[in-house]
This record gives sequence, C-alpha cells and structure tokens, in this order.
Amino acid sequence: MNLILIGAQGSGKGTQASILVERLGIRHLASGDIFRNAVAQGTPLGLEVKGYMERGELVPDRITIALILDLLRDPAYEKGVVLDGFPRTRDQAKALDDALPQLHRRIDRAIYLNVPREVLLDRLSGRYVCVAHQHVYNIKTKPPKTPGICDIDGSELIQRSDDTPAVIETRLQKFFEDTIQVVHYYRAQGKLLELDGNQPIEEVSRQLLLGLGLDPAQAKPGS
Ligand code: AP5
Ligand code: MG
Repeated sequence: MNLILIGAQGSGKGTQASILVERLGIRHLASGDIFRNAVAQGTPLGLEVKGYMERGELVPDRITIALILDLLRDPAYEKGVVLDGFPRTRDQAKALDDALPQLHRRIDRAIYLNVPREVLLDRLSGRYVCVAHQHVYNIKTKPPKTPGICDIDGSELIQRSDDTPAVIETRLQKFFEDTIQVVHYYRAQGKLLELDGNQPIEEVSRQLLLGLGLDPAQAKPGS
C-alpha cells in the first residue's frame, strides 16, 4: 500500500506515520526528517536546504522532487510506503504521479489530517523529538516514560529549531497557501481520505485504519 499523509505543521503526520508503519509493515519516508538529518550532518544537501528550513519556507521543488523520486526507486520501498511531508506542492504531486507508473506503483490513498490552527500552535510548542530517529513526543499529550529520553531508542529529546513562534507562523502560512492545493489535487482524483485530526492520537489512528478498510483491532503483520 502506498499512502500519503497531508496536514499542516503539527497535525500529526509523523505521529500517525509511525503507527501505520508498525501496523502495515511498510516504510516511512519523511522529507522533513531527511532534510533535518542532512543539515545535522552538514552534507551538501544540508547546506543547500538549511536556510529554507530555518525560515520555515519550502525547499525548492527542483531539489525536493529529485531527492524523493530518487529514494523511491530503492527496492526497499517496493512493499509500500507512507509518504510524510511529500508532496506538498501541486508540481510535486504531479511529478510523483508521472514517476510511479515506471516503478509499477501508484498512490492508493492520500490522507488529510485536518486540525484547527490554534490547536496546531499549542501542539508544536509542546513537541519534543529524539536526536537519534526523530521519534515524536509531546509534553501534554504524549509524554515519554522518562523525562527527556526517547522510549524507543533511549536517545535525548530536543525541541526542533523550526518550532519557534515566528517560524511556525511562516510554516502554517505556507500550508494554507500552497500545500492545501495538494488536498484539492487528490480530492479531484477520488483518493482523498479526510480525517478530523483534532481527536486523541489513538482515535485518529482508529479512524484512519477504518478509512483504509482495515480492522483497527487486528494485530500488526507477523505478530
Ligand atoms: P516537516 O518535518 O515535514 O515538518 P512539518 O510539515 O512542519 O510538519 P511537522 O513535522 O511539524 O508536524 P507533523 O504533522 O509531523 O506533526 P507531529 O506528528 O510531529 O518539514 C520541515 C521543513 O522541511 C519544512 O518547513 C520545509 O522547509 C522542508 N520540507 C519538508 N518536506 C518538504 C517538501 N515536500 N517540499 C518542500 N520543503 C519541504 O505532531 C506534532 C505534535 O503534536 C507532537 O508533539 C505530537 O506528539 C502531538 N500530536 C500528534 N497528534 C496528536 C493528537 N491527535 N492529539 C494530540 N497531540 C498530538
Ligand atoms: Mg513531522
């Protein structure tokens, strides 16, 4: 199954992607995580995208499209993928649609996590991510078992450098101006699954799995 998660900053894309990956046994490909790792490692890609990310702007399509389409050619994604944060412009969505048939793949569903703006601000101010794998926590809604430590890999939890009020404002503006076009794009294709993302994490997951025609109570593959 090939899925896309669309939603504003803080809507829960990363959170729901982790749950889908666990449940469906498919891979998670998050453009933001890839860019942040590149910045942290100081690679040529990282140096190129750092400024855009710090300002909360979109990385130009010419960089993003080439990078993600190249990664998707990896056979590791043959079984399926949850795309988190890509596509987020109409041109990115079109490029993806043009490229996937050559790989004998297609997008099955695009999931839109719809959350009101004021809730997004509150969530992002309480978010922490782990330095090793960017696992996501929240001081109010999803605290780690041990403060400051990732439950999954034991690494340190930090706040993202783009989770400052000014940068959050720019990122949200970009979503409601540009990325919302991607929602319309998949709605026109009849592939959109729109969910109320302003509910507890487990309830969003339950409705997501039901919307995909899966039984939320069933165990993950192989268990
Ligand atoms: P990216 O990393 O994708 O960031 P984003 O879009 O700003 O989204 P976030 O990661 O902030 O939010 P999320 O929806 O994953 O929410 P989360 O699950 O963490 O992109 C970063 C930057 O990279 C961009 O600004 C851009 O510069 C660049 N970029 C990336 N992709 C690009 C592309 N395709 N084109 C161009 N540039 C690109 O949840 C948020 C918080 O809420 C957490 O604390 C979580 O615990 C909590 N939470 C989640 N769900 C719930 C719930 N249901 N109830 C209560 N709390 C919840
Ligand atoms: Mg995320």
